[in-house]
Amino acid sequence: MTLSEKYKDEIAEILSRYPVKRSALIPLLYLAQREPGYVTEAAMTEIAGLLKLTPPQVYETATFYTMLNLKKVGKHHIQVCKSLMCALVGSDTVIGWLRTKLGIAPGETTADGLFTLSAVECLAACGTAPMMQINDDYYERLTEEKVDKILADLRTAGTSPLKSGPYMWPESAR
Ligand code: FES
Repeated sequence: MTLSEKYKDEIAEILSRYPVKRSALIPLLYLAQREPGYVTEAAMTEIAGLLKLTPPQVYETATFYTMLNLKKVGKHHIQVCKSLMCALVGSDTVIGWLRTKLGIAPGETTADGLFTLSAVECLAACGTAPMMQINDDYYERLTEEKVDKILADLRTAGTSPLKSGPYMWPESAR
């Protein structure tokens, strides 16, 4: 099923927000990612057609933003901020803990498909560094103890009370 068939009304609503069609590119890519967890080549081609862009124009945008995945990710996508403020207070150490505890490097997924680890640029929570985003939730002021608890919670309950909340596409910003 194509995106246009599946999300007809939502696509129309997104397009109605922008006087210039191409401005809807990122929201449409994000919509395309919602169910499979990544943006397929077919979706990029379809979005190019919808916005009268070339497929490479869509691809170069999709590859620029780390919030868009181009391949399947684990059930819990751990994105550790590695930008300056987080780096100054230990993002490398956080990535090191996760590498050891999960047995994977950034860009990899655990064999059970539960976790994918990524190192990403600033997620705008610099004041509570070091921090990471897992799926749509932020986890801030990380310590090794917190990381252990978060991983254990996600393994057992699929969520953790240590999250400070979702910051991606908050309702109030729509
Ligand atoms: S530098 Fe890490 S959230 Fe901004």
